[in-house]
Amino acid sequence: MSSLPKLQQIPAEIAAVADYQAFARERMTPEAWAYLAGGAADEQTLADNLAAFQRVRLLNRVMEDLGGGHTRLRLCGLELDYPILLAPVAFQKLAHPDGELASVLGASAMGAAMVVSTQASVSLEAIAQAAQTPLWFQLYIQPDREFTRELVRRAEAAGYRALVVTVDAPVNGLRNREQRAAFAFPEGVEAVNLKGMRSLPPSVARPGASPLFGSPLLEHAPTWKDLEWLQSLTRLPVLVKGVMNPRDAVRAVEAGVAGIVVSNHGGRTLDGLPATLDVLPAVARAVEGKVPLLLDGGIRRGTDVFKALALGADAVMIGRPYVHGLATAGASGVAHVLHLLRTELEVAMALTGCASLADIDASLIWREGHLDAR
Ligand code: FNR
Ligand code: LAC
Repeated sequence: MSSLPKLQQIPAEIAAVADYQAFARERMTPEAWAYLAGGAADEQTLADNLAAFQRVRLLNRVMEDLGGGHTRLRLCGLELDYPILLAPVAFQKLAHPDGELASVLGASAMGAAMVVSTQASVSLEAIAQAAQTPLWFQLYIQPDREFTRELVRRAEAAGYRALVVTVDAPVNGLRNREQRAAFAFPEGVEAVNLKGMRSLPPSVARPGASPLFGSPLLEHAPTWKDLEWLQSLTRLPVLVKGVMNPRDAVRAVEAGVAGIVVSNHGGRTLDGLPATLDVLPAVARAVEGKVPLLLDGGIRRGTDVFKALALGADAVMIGRPYVHGLATAGASGVAHVLHLLRTELEVAMALTGCASLADIDASLIWREGHLDAR
């Protein structure tokens, strides 16, 4: 049996989530940092995810009745105290020796749900055993469909409450920062949940051949049909993660998904995509409230959570920020990141006269001309 992760101290200088970044970088190898921090290609999308939140301004309201206020919500069968979840992030042992076990402890301390990556560096069963908070399982539909079926069975048996199918990465993005840093997995960090999977036959290198098309990887890339197949396999709610295009969102609703995560994979897949916050209103209009919408990418403040909710999200997920907390201070760091964001969200709600999440809407986003509207 592994021993319990130790409680670590939070550096006293940390007042906001962004303060964790420098500490995390110091504690990680430059190669692992390149993997965690980087995005695809020129990192335009990565940068824009953050910049989009900077471009949006709020409008306050004073002297509303805040009595009985709260931030509770129901989300795909979960009762959550506040609308912030941990996004699936692979290989967390790169950030901390306890990896996902420390993250799930931090999430448990704060009552936040965690989405566990298919490519976690700790087994999905061990994470579930350590959890005292609801878990969802992020699934990559693998080329080996039998193995995928088995993975779903394992997640069900371990008590995961939903499947989040990531659909925006049939191939990895071209992550130049990682390549320049010559990132390679250190010993002891691997996708343990995928052990025993049949691997694809190697692509045949022929002069002049396409580097990708015709390759086994793309021949087996999941399609809408595979989503249907997956839904037929399980009674768990199935969400899709990585939707940016409103038409895809409509298609996903028609396919009967339980929820949609508006995400560009933290800028790690297709560089040149817009910020998630910028596409959110169009996706929300297309979905018409038929299924819950989550957003991730660039959330670094409670006011960012507020902005996402005002523009159509029901909840958000954070990726890099909690891993910065993890690298800096293990479970305590993860819990503290959640605590900071939750506190900032509540302050923002109090200062905009919102006593519950339902009060957060687009009328609280400032626009030119807004003030003489009425
Ligand atoms: C990710 N993300 C991700 N997504 C997923 O569906 N499965 C995965 O295994 C991973 N792995 C992963 C590793 C690392 C190092 C990062 C930074 C991200 C994407 C993640 O779930 C989420 O979409 C983004 O991280 C959100 O953006 P922020 O919060 O990091 O800006
Ligand atoms: C990543 C893959 C694991 O973003 O989703 O690194």
